[in-house]
Amino acid sequence: MIKNIAVLGMQWGDEGKGKIVDLLSKNSNYVVRYQGGNNAGHTLLVDKKKTILHLIPSCVLYKNVKAVLGNGVVVSLPDLVKEINFLKKNKIFIQDRLILSNSISLIFEYHISLDRAREKNKESKIIGTTHKGIGPAYEDKIARRSIRISDLYDTNYFSYILKKNVHYYNFQLVNYFKKNPVSYKKIYFDSLKYFNKIKNMIQDVSKLLNKKIKKKSKIIFEGAQGSLLDIDYGTYPYVSSSNSSIGGIITGTGLGIKNINYIMGISKVYTTRVGNGPFPTELFNDVHKYLCKIGKEFGSTTGRKRRTGWLDLVLLKRMIKINSISGLCLTKLDVLDNLNEIKVCIKYINKFSKKEINFYPITQKDWEEIIPVYKVFKGWKKSIRGIVLFKDLPVLTQKYISFIKNFIKIDIDLISTGPERNNTIFINNKIKTFVNYKN
Ligand code: IMP
Repeated sequence: MIKNIAVLGMQWGDEGKGKIVDLLSKNSNYVVRYQGGNNAGHTLLVDKKKTILHLIPSCVLYKNVKAVLGNGVVVSLPDLVKEINFLKKNKIFIQDRLILSNSISLIFEYHISLDRAREKNKESKIIGTTHKGIGPAYEDKIARRSIRISDLYDTNYFSYILKKNVHYYNFQLVNYFKKNPVSYKKIYFDSLKYFNKIKNMIQDVSKLLNKKIKKKSKIIFEGAQGSLLDIDYGTYPYVSSSNSSIGGIITGTGLGIKNINYIMGISKVYTTRVGNGPFPTELFNDVHKYLCKIGKEFGSTTGRKRRTGWLDLVLLKRMIKINSISGLCLTKLDVLDNLNEIKVCIKYINKFSKKEINFYPITQKDWEEIIPVYKVFKGWKKSIRGIVLFKDLPVLTQKYISFIKNFIKIDIDLISTGPERNNTIFINNKIKTFVNYKN
């Protein structure tokens, strides 16, 4: 029986993980985020009510489920408190069931200022970040300069390291980027004010989760961003700064690899990306406009219009391998309903030699030289919104799904046919049993 599920994005984020984590959370005990920060935007739609989360795990709608932020997450205390208050206003009381790791690295105003300054500087490589300070906060972690949440218990020590960091960042902000410095005093007092509001939530998350796993608790690991934004396996340097692929769970929670029973990959049936970087199947035509409009492809964190393209099975296959995915969940199938034809990329060829490319592109030049080759499907031109049984899908839709399954050579276990929780096809009992089984 599956006890623990990891939910990982297979593309550049925004695959619809929020809806699936919400669905899986029903009878689970813990939902754990292990990487990223409030750069994420997880949208839940239940009974036509929309809730967007950036940092807090997507289980908030179930009162019995605890939400955990592991040590791999980076946290801005003001933004965390803002999100808790936003939920409170919406009658969702998370404060008694939110658990924060005692070794979380914090995001401060100087990280956000530096992120913004870099993104506006003509000489920098513009990544198209969310301006939430994610990159600089992870840089501090690797450079052994991070201020971690537990450092705030000792105000003298906090003051000492904060002064050093503010000095270091202001030097860059003022001298290199010609921006205003940040104020040590303001950060110091604000941080302690927000810390006091959340300090009762701090725990040793690794200890807690190891204990709960022994007791057979049901745990969901909620990935943020997607594997193509992973710092090691994504389209570097156009990536986020954490391991959004499977490895992030181990380093970001303090649990061993044997504790994950089932690894679910989530992919839309088309592709989107926000920010810059390679995108082999990108569309610039009317289909792009259609996907943006029907798929509501606007960033839930930044409001930016997303780039769109066809499903890329070459990249999907690679992401399935690096994450050792157990089964796939396809999302937003209903968005394709009115297209005359639907394409999927099945291989890349070299722009000049026209020969098939049999390696994963690494350099900018590699990405620039590839051309995607497509298989074309006839559109089903019928609404499939809300269908819950595979056999009720039009034959053309079934053919399209079967082709994907045979190509990627793993099971498709879930298909999402609309944004609501119940717009979901359970292909088999694997995941259905997990959702319905009460501990
Ligand atoms: P950062 O994570 O803010 O540093 O941004 C780095 C890249 O990741 C940019 O292209 C962002 O648009 C992208 N990104 C970060 N978080 C998300 C997300 O949750 N969904 C989609 N893209 C994201």
